[in-house]
Amino acid sequence: MSEGTGDWAPADFEHHGRELLATIRQHFENVRDVPVARPYDAAELMSRLDGVMPEQGEEFSRVLADTWEKVVPDLVHWNHPAFHGYFSTCASFPGMLAETMTAALNVNSMLWKTSPSASALEHVVLGWLAELAGYPGESDGLLVGGASLATLYALGAARDAALTYDVREEGMGGPHAKVARIYTSDQAHSSVEKAAITLGIGLRNVVKIPSDDQYRMRPDLLEEAIARDVAAGCVPVAVVATVGTTSVAAADPLQPISEICGRFGVWLHVDAAYGGLFAFTSRMSGAAENVSVGDSLVVNPQKTLFVPLDSTALYCKRRGTLANTYRLVPEYLTSVHTGGTFDFMDLSPQLGRGFRALKLWWVMRSFGRSGLGSRLDHAMRLADDLRQLAAADADWQCPVPSRYPLVCLRYAPQGGAASDAQAVDVLNARIVKELNDSGEAFVSHSVIRDGYVIRVSLANIHTTGQDIEGLWALLNRTAKKCR
Ligand SMILES: Cc1ncc(COP(=O)(O)O)c(C=O)c1O
Repeated sequence: MSEGTGDWAPADFEHHGRELLATIRQHFENVRDVPVARPYDAAELMSRLDGVMPEQGEEFSRVLADTWEKVVPDLVHWNHPAFHGYFSTCASFPGMLAETMTAALNVNSMLWKTSPSASALEHVVLGWLAELAGYPGESDGLLVGGASLATLYALGAARDAALTYDVREEGMGGPHAKVARIYTSDQAHSSVEKAAITLGIGLRNVVKIPSDDQYRMRPDLLEEAIARDVAAGCVPVAVVATVGTTSVAAADPLQPISEICGRFGVWLHVDAAYGGLFAFTSRMSGAAENVSVGDSLVVNPQKTLFVPLDSTALYCKRRGTLANTYRLVPEYLTSVHTGGTFDFMDLSPQLGRGFRALKLWWVMRSFGRSGLGSRLDHAMRLADDLRQLAAADADWQCPVPSRYPLVCLRYAPQGGAASDAQAVDVLNARIVKELNDSGEAFVSHSVIRDGYVIRVSLANIHTTGQDIEGLWALLNRTAKKCR
């Protein structure tokens, strides 16, 4: 081998792999001593990491040491048992190992023939996930890089199905252009609006239907809005309903919404990115919204099923509609299909695609259906414990009930500024900052009709009841300090 060419020897790979695994093991054995986040100075951070690219290759042990010294301390540790921000994502150990295997094989499942068992396995795990969510397994489905993209792809197909002219050919501004409308609740995730921007539908054509006092879309107002638009000559492209809204984990009433969609012939896309994969748990039994009424559905195992980022499933019951929008086959990508095979590249704009199915397969097989269910039940139980602690304390409010493991809290101390909503907002914002700066836990916030709330998302596979007691003590300590 000439100087400077070639990869490491496989034996060196194993040696460094062991070094890395030992470091990761140590990290998780002591993870509660690791600050979840810390205040940082962006300029200092940049100067610490900045530098010229090395001319000669460096020893891996040096690279690894630098990573732990210079990079890891200023990460926000999303995989920490005290991380409760946003919708926390959690990577379990089997998921982490699958990522290594995936990188080692580095296959591309753009066509069935470019990696047959990767495509077959994607089909299998999509079937398993559909069963967990309660969606028909015979739908079209694919794994994509996040729920925002899934919603974009679904709404692209919905747009093309709704408009009576050939959008693929003419684009949105052609001679037959019509005003296309999307309906969603005032609680919907911003990905719906981003999809409208990307698809040329426009933000002004996203109709925000008001939600009720539990933050659920109001079907009566949805029906009125669609009827008004139809009378005005607009084309209703889709309704996007949410199961597990971002701010408070509310679930829109899918049955009446789907009946309205049926009456007007409008596509129903269900954004169950957060809530969809709790449907099979004992604690949710019989209470979950029936997502099978959706023409399309997104669920996000990366949020709730202990599968590393990114891992999202998009389904579409209207078979063939995704392909109607996205199938475009140049000569160099043609293939012959036998035995029910198909090419995943036909179902979205993405061509090259990694082996996302493997991490899902490993996590689902390692924990099993009942193991996953009991872990999610555990998270919901922890959330209930936290809600009960807050309910028993007059200084705390828990403005919105939810079945999901997302707890919204608001500190409004008795005898303090509780009656001044604005002052309470400011106080709660201070608590979030102070708490996150402490490194002991990490939370995020939202602003709802009740005001500024502290969002505590419970999704980490390692979080225990003791952690929740610690978090409650920390919240109270921090709140008193900020008063
Ligand atoms: C309800 C809902 N839908 C969609 C998304 C977008 O998810 P992603 O980050 O996978 O694009 C989120 C993100 O939190 C969400 O809460």
